[in-house]
Amino acid sequence: MRIRRIGAAERPALSLPLQAYAFDRTPMPPGELEDLRKHARYSEGNVTLVAEVDAEAVAVASAIPMRQNVRGRVYPMAGVGGVATHPLARRQGHVRALLTRLLGEARDAGHVVSALYPFRPSFYERFGYVGLPQTGTVTFSPADLAGLLAHDLPGTVAVERIKDGYDSYRALFERLLADRHGFATLPEYRAVRLRDDDEHWLATARVDDEVVGAVTYRISGHAGTLQADHLLATGPLGRALLLGFFARHVDQVATVEATVAPDERPELWATDLGTVTETRARFPENAPMGRVLSLDALAGLPVGPGRVAVEVVDDPFVAGRYLLDGTGGALSVERGQAVGAASVPASSIPTATLTAAGLSGLVYGVLDPDDLVVRGLGRVPRDAARQLRTLWTRCVPYLAVGF
Ligand SMILES: CC(C)(COP(=O)(O)OP(=O)(O)OC[C@H]1O[C@@H](n2cnc3c(N)ncnc32)[C@H](O)[C@@H]1OP(=O)(O)O)[C@@H](O)C(=O)NCCC(=O)NCCS
Repeated sequence: MRIRRIGAAERPALSLPLQAYAFDRTPMPPGELEDLRKHARYSEGNVTLVAEVDAEAVAVASAIPMRQNVRGRVYPMAGVGGVATHPLARRQGHVRALLTRLLGEARDAGHVVSALYPFRPSFYERFGYVGLPQTGTVTFSPADLAGLLAHDLPGTVAVERIKDGYDSYRALFERLLADRHGFATLPEYRAVRLRDDDEHWLATARVDDEVVGAVTYRISGHAGTLQADHLLATGPLGRALLLGFFARHVDQVATVEATVAPDERPELWATDLGTVTETRARFPENAPMGRVLSLDALAGLPVGPGRVAVEVVDDPFVAGRYLLDGTGGALSVERGQAVGAASVPASSIPTATLTAAGLSGLVYGVLDPDDLVVRGLGRVPRDAARQLRTLWTRCVPYLAVGF
């Protein structure tokens, strides 16, 4: 088996058929396959690796160069997708080899973290990924928002097709990327598909020409549903302006559905607002997962004042010994400090052993050190747990983009 990186010209013949077989309704009429090929430009900057046996492509995996906010800092992130093996070549280790190569290349190219949407989380946990929280869908009646219209809010809302408002929508996404833990953005060549498909309305809330909220949506029909995507806002005013806009659909649609952050509480948005918020995290709508590809590159990350030695095990990318110190409020990472060596007396430094998934759970703020112990993701004595808990406090990442 040989692993090879392929360029855009080879994708239609090599990777697309494997991915279409795995993820689409097949066999496809010739026209549909042609449509898929036309969309190739939205993958132009992806890194695609294929595994070939006897010059035949049998497995494929791609990485999309994205960016993600981790605890307030924005890092290059490898979004992994399109992972598929020909049915006759499955369970022969092809994807294990491909993913190991893909993530190694991504790490060497400067990607500090990686994220994906798994078909089965346990499959990717063995590749160092940990579950991140799923976004929710809130459903409510626009009639319940009537109270919001009574307030004269200092701002305006404009509505247009996404192809016309794409630039301001993208700019808001970029702004939220800088602010919100877990937020990620697609590269421009991929993101513009939303604009080019032009299948959504865009409502944009502004205060003095500054965009403070935006949401893309579709309407299913009269008396139907206003289906909104992520309700993006810089704060309560932007959100209230968008909700006020939804309220104006009271005689047009029966319900509004919107995607919200995992820690959002829509029942607090307005008095008398009746909401149902659902989170689905089961096949095929599994929650996303993320992993750290380089712990050294996280030096400088805003952290709490913990000091701890960790040994990361069983991982080709982050395995090793590290001394982590957050005393100054920014993470210091020292490599290769063998605990027990003269500079690191075993007695003075609490020490933990972590898998890559366990480490990733702490960095992303989704697991407590005690979770690692009960889930088999690490050995964390009490004193080390205390330090790790202070170093990386719990926090909720909001991954608002699919890929
Ligand atoms: C999932 C899929 C990509 C796996 O590819 P593969 O080439 O068969 O995987 P490998 O043989 O390299 O297996 C890697 C590891 O996962 C295990 N594994 C393989 N398929 C698995 C499955 N369905 N569930 C759980 N574990 C699985 C293997 O035993 C192996 O473990 P090991 O390395 O510890 O021995 C392939 O079955 C496929 O194309 N499925 C349909 C498309 C899909 O779901 N893609 C994933 C999208 S996120």
